[in-house]
Amino acid sequence: MSIDFSDNNFEFTESTQLMNTSATAEDDGEYSLRPRTLTEYIGQEKAKGNLDVYIQGAKKRNEPLDHVLLHGPPGLGKTTLAAIIAAEMGSALRKTSGPAIEKPRDLAALLTNLNENDILFIDEIHRMNRAVEEILYPAMEDRQIDIIIGQGPSASSITLELKSFTLVGATTRSGQLSSPLRDRFGIDLKLELYTPEELQKIVTRSAAILNVEIEPDGAYEIASRSRGTPRIANRLLRRVRDFAQVFGNGVITREAADHALQRLEIDGSGLDAIDRRLLKSIIENYNGGPVGLETIAATINEEPVTIEDVYEPYLMQQGFLTRTPRGRCVTPKAYRHLGIDIIQDSLFDN
Ligand code: ADE
Repeated sequence: MSIDFSDNNFEFTESTQLMNTSATAEDDGEYSLRPRTLTEYIGQEKAKGNLDVYIQGAKKRNEPLDHVLLHGPPGLGKTTLAAIIAAEMGSALRKTSGPAIEKPRDLAALLTNLNENDILFIDEIHRMNRAVEEILYPAMEDRQIDIIIGQGPSASSITLELKSFTLVGATTRSGQLSSPLRDRFGIDLKLELYTPEELQKIVTRSAAILNVEIEPDGAYEIASRSRGTPRIANRLLRRVRDFAQVFGNGVITREAADHALQRLEIDGSGLDAIDRRLLKSIIENYNGGPVGLETIAATINEEPVTIEDVYEPYLMQQGFLTRTPRGRCVTPKAYRHLGIDIIQDSLFDN
């Protein structure tokens, strides 16, 4: 695939508009909680251990790191890991996202502006359109892009050589990546939901950075109700801190955390109001399932992708929901959790 630049004067400097190099005000707080090195990074032991080997190997050979695909549910630290990869490799990080790159020329501009050994992070890479994606193939494989200059019979194609770079792609849905793209990532790391023990360490570390006093039981209470997700754990920590400071002496004990989380409608298993609505609606309207994703989405007025990416991973991990070829099913554990009796003709009475 080549890029046709013949219709207007294309300037490579356009690329800066697609880059997000500065943190937003909302990011600031989270940014300060983010680990900066692999040693500081808690959890994801398998992915982290292998990544450490690949980084050390590349550094020993004095080569850029192979292209990396990070996949897993939102909030597990894909952006953080990209920043850590850049820091560990001693390279600059350039951030953009799949939907921000609208045209092949936008991506060409990004790529030709990279400096030697930069890390290019593309978030939500599955949302890149096909024409843009095809520019990436020769760029990833041969560090080249082809562009067409001029129009009609005088048009000519030139090949631009790129500096060596590492692409770090992040996606919540690796199944949606085309195989030509997926195959060009030499390193494929799957991030898993965190255990409560790992999240407890993260909450304890974050509390120390935020200068909040927290007891181990308090940290565990927040951790076990954070759906396996550091971003949620850190958000809940901030909210629990508010309650602890307003209603108590500011120390986060187990009781203080429990009181705050009850006020936030997060139950003992970490389910929020929407999780419970989702499960209840399958029970009450579809007798526990099986029911299709689109139908559930319409019933509870949420987007199907949000249900799939945000709610289902935790509900399935906790054994409240299963995906079957005929649709989603609520498990007996979910009935028990919600205090609802399983009725006669449900899926589970045989
Ligand atoms: N903050 C958010 N994610 C983290 C992680 N994996 N390790 C340490 N601190 C974090």
